[in-house]
This record gives sequence, C-alpha cells and structure tokens, in this order.
Amino acid sequence: MLNPETPTLDPFLGSNFIVHRSNFSLFLLSSGHQGKTRRRYPVPTQPRFNPDGYNARRNHNDACRNGAPNRSDMTKKIAVVPGDGIGPEVIREGMKVLTYLNESSKLGLQFTHFGWNADTYLATGISMPAGAMDDIRTNYDAVFLGAYGDPRVPDMKHAADILLGMRFQLDLYVNYRPVKLLDERLSPLKGKGKKEIDLVIFRENTEGAYVGMGGNFKKGTPDEIAIQEDVSSRRGVERIIRYAFEYARKTGRKSVCMSDKNNVMRFGGDLWLRTFESVASEYPEIEHFHMFVDALTMQMVRAPEMFDVIVTNNMFGDIVTDLGAALQGGLGMAASGNIHPNRVSLFEPIHGSAPKYAGKDHANPIGAVLTAAMMLEFLGFTAEATRIEAAVTKAIAANETTSDIGGPLGTIAAGDAILRHLQTA
Ligand code: IPM
Ligand code: MN
Repeated sequence: MLNPETPTLDPFLGSNFIVHRSNFSLFLLSSGHQGKTRRRYPVPTQPRFNPDGYNARRNHNDACRNGAPNRSDMTKKIAVVPGDGIGPEVIREGMKVLTYLNESSKLGLQFTHFGWNADTYLATGISMPAGAMDDIRTNYDAVFLGAYGDPRVPDMKHAADILLGMRFQLDLYVNYRPVKLLDERLSPLKGKGKKEIDLVIFRENTEGAYVGMGGNFKKGTPDEIAIQEDVSSRRGVERIIRYAFEYARKTGRKSVCMSDKNNVMRFGGDLWLRTFESVASEYPEIEHFHMFVDALTMQMVRAPEMFDVIVTNNMFGDIVTDLGAALQGGLGMAASGNIHPNRVSLFEPIHGSAPKYAGKDHANPIGAVLTAAMMLEFLGFTAEATRIEAAVTKAIAANETTSDIGGPLGTIAAGDAILRHLQTA
C-alpha cells in the first residue's frame, strides 16, 4: 500500500524555485528541512482517509513502520496550542468539553499544552523551538489550536511560522470547513434555513498563493515590481479534488463543485479543470460542475442549497470560507480541520485572534467547541462528536450564548452552558 519511494509533495523540498523572503516564507528558509530529499513519512499515492472517522491503529502502525516511536498503547496525544488574543479563552472552553468527555467516556486522550504565542515570540525571538515541529509530527495525533495574530507583530512572523508552518511542514493538504446552520434563527439569509445551508468546503491548503514565492524588484523606488506566484501542482490539485469526491461518496453528498477563475488565470485553471474532469470520471454517481469563484460568492448567498461539496484553491478557499462562516451565523461559529489523512492533523476555529476582545470574556466559544468535536471525529470518536454538536445546538436554542449570536452570556458561561447540555443529555 505505502510506497516508500513516493516523492515528497512538499513544494519546498527539492524544488528548483527560488523562494524569496516574503513574510510567509521566512519559516521555509529556517525550517531545517532544506536539503532533505524525502520525508520521514512516505506520502501514499491514494488518500486513505475515511471521512467518517479516523483509524488510529492504522495511523499508529504506519507511524511505527516509518520510524516513529512505538507507542504500544492506544492513547491519543493532543497538542494544545492556544495562541494569541481570544485563542486561550476559546480553547479553554473547548478543553472543558474535551476533558469531560475524555473522563466520562474514557477516550484515552492525553493533552500537552504549548504556550507558543506573540508574548513568547517577542520575549525570545523564537516562534517555535527547534525540534518542536518534528516532535508534533512524530509524537502527536492531533493539534488543537486557538488563533494567531497580534498587533505587536505586524508582519505576522510567528503566526506564519506556527500556523502556516504546520500546514506546510506537516503537509496538511486538506482544509476541511463545513458550513452547517445549526439554528434557523442564525441564518443571515431571508428564506434560507438548515435545509438550505448545509455544505462542505474543501480548501487546498499547501499550495496556491500561500507558498510565498515571488519577490520585490527595485523595492521602494517608483519602478518597483512585486510578483506573487500562485502555484498549483498536478499532485497537489489531484489529491484535494480526490479527497472532495471521496468525502462526497462516503457521506452520500450528491455533487462536487470546483471553483476557480480559469477564465483569467488560464494556466493554473487549465490544470485544475483537467484534473477535476479526470477525477470526476472515477465517481460517476456524483454530479460535478465548475463555477467561477466570483459567481460562487454570489450563488452561496443567493442559493446556498445549490452546493453540497465545494473544492477550491488555497486563496479562494480562504475567502469563501469566511462567507461560509457568515452563513452559519458568524465567524464565531465556524470550525476547521487541517488534515493529512492518517497523520497528525491540526484543528482550529476559523475565526482569528480578535485582539480587541481578548481577555474580555466576550468571544464566542462555539467555533472552538465545534472544532473540538471535529477533532474527536477525526480521531474516531464519532459518537462523542455528535454529542457535542447536539449540546451546542441545545445551548443555541436556549439562547445560552454570547452576544454575537444574540445571547446574554460571556465566553465562560456560554462554555458552561454547552457542558451542562452535554452532561444532561
Ligand atoms: C484562515 C486564516 C489564515 C489564512 C491566516 C491567519 C494566515 O485567515 O485560516 O483562514 O489565511 O489561511
Ligand atoms: Mn481566513
């Protein structure tokens, strides 16, 4: 099954491209990965992810075969990384739910906290200590992350190192962002409710405009030129599109929409469209269609029921998933997973660090709590994930929420309400 000679998919290893020092590429130059010819874990040619769950034992066995320490128990190790701003507050609420389920259902989760944030970066100049990425890659099953971003670090260096660093260096090529309305009251669209607002967006997460390729020429002069490349590889495009179709097949979704801007971005668009058509032909029972991304934003608002599964590139995915979050009731509601099937994967709410709300007991914990549920599902605890979603739904129905979705509570009380619904279910 595994082909140890499968070449790496990391766009930065063995690449002939010159990576210039842009904000988001600094971590690449200092990652310690330069010069390696092959990653420790071979990349399977076919995704082995089961969207309905995660096979921890297989992951464990693969990891052992490929040199990871042999952990003979079935403990699942979670790295908890609260980050900046409201990150620690929402992660604390997510942890309440996780701790409760871990104890009451004996899930065998083991949590390790990592305090990497703007404070530690400003004090030490280090975003993530040497060896930390390898430690996460080798010794953990999942990362539960809050948010990154701090006005004192205007170039976002530590955020790029840690968040984008994990996405790239752990090769987390699937950004899984479901858009599911949990309560009719939260719909921002007239006449559209739970039935209409229920789709899943897969954002390619390791290529595109996020690779940090490009540079500035004649910087600071009137003749300055800036180039920002948008990179798509056949392998990179194929694996995310295939993942979207696999997901549709396994979850009974009826269509996959691929969205890009191939009327203007011809080269990348051509690769995406050809790949889409060729993968789609392997899934004849699933409808497939293409939509320009400008039209997609319009249709997501006008007729969200048109969509089941959407697959798109890194940048367009970033943009349309904020729109998707708004369809669920706001940024505070949305969860996301940065996934590489059967490897350590990273789970984070879609919202940012919202520095102006930090420490005010104001932030909505639901995005983080639903992210915890998504992580449990990935780890194979589907029943527990469903229970969390049910508890969140009850808390919303009872208006036991923060003010962004109309409730009277602070972050802590809103988290307590969810916990109570979980305990009394
Ligand atoms: C997201 C965020 C990040 C991104 C930022 C914080 C770099 O907006 O996860 O959607 O652009 O991917
Ligand atoms: Mn975003």
